[in-house]
Amino acid sequence: MTPGSFAAIGAPVAPVPRLVHESFPPGSFIWFRQKVLPMARRRQIYEGKAKILYEGPEPGTLIQYFKDDATAFNAQKRGTINGKGVLNNRISEHVFTLLGNIGVPTHFIRRLNMREQLIRQVEIVPIEVIVRNVAAGTLSKRLGIEEGTQLPRTLIEYCYKDDALGDPLVAEEHIACFNWCSQDELHDIQDMAIRINDFMSGMFAAVGIRLVDFKLEFGRLYEGDFSRIILADEISPDGCRLWDMTTNEKLDKDRFRRDLGGEVEAYQEVARRLGLMPEGGENAVLDLESHRKKKGS
Ligand code: C5P
Repeated sequence: MTPGSFAAIGAPVAPVPRLVHESFPPGSFIWFRQKVLPMARRRQIYEGKAKILYEGPEPGTLIQYFKDDATAFNAQKRGTINGKGVLNNRISEHVFTLLGNIGVPTHFIRRLNMREQLIRQVEIVPIEVIVRNVAAGTLSKRLGIEEGTQLPRTLIEYCYKDDALGDPLVAEEHIACFNWCSQDELHDIQDMAIRINDFMSGMFAAVGIRLVDFKLEFGRLYEGDFSRIILADEISPDGCRLWDMTTNEKLDKDRFRRDLGGEVEAYQEVARRLGLMPEGGENAVLDLESHRKKKGS
């Protein structure tokens, strides 16, 4: 199997960008062969716009498959970004792992291969949580605020997850009134959203990227009679606005939404800056360990 092909799991063979850590750690192939069924024999649980969920190898687990399909404006605009799924899988793995390390509970268990990750099964809270640091997109349109205006404080918005309604903006009052989640759950969601924003703003700023806004989804993880809220879905340039700090160049799905071109290059640039692409140029300096080794100290 050549790098970038998926013959082992029966998926279409497609050229994709080469990423760091794409090989399995020692021993994992045995686990992979025993526990993860070939794609054709897996039960599909759900297919969304950019991902497919399959039944996982153990009860309470799912396999999240990242597609190259791209949609915008409530799926009125459709397209394919070759290699996007591979990049999003790797970027999301990276971000979820780091968030896990700082104590944010997430559904992520491990990445299985270039397009799939093993996740915990949750009951998705039907709310999209939008966190904004800088005015852009629908906020700018709705309130007539120029794109790029720094907001005086972080703004959290909520949209009700319903494709047929176009995921309408809702208030906390709607969430309480229709009991989409409890008050306690909403507090947990708000606390986590702020922590995630603080962490991610710093993580991206360190590699010259401004975190303008992003979308989060949360789910309920049941443990006996109790449930707790954990971070679900993905965090990738599909659901974030990421601008280069010096040029304001867009490194996210707005390139697709606004027909700017260079979508995969932008996603690749995000992965490269996060140190997820093969070594070269600035990466080597950001990676202190290999930098030190090169210098012989
Ligand atoms: O379009 P809007 O300005 O409301 O988007 C705010 C942020 O939420 C953007 O980063 C966008 O990518 C993300 N978003 C998303 N999925 C949606 C709506 C918004 O990922 N359904």
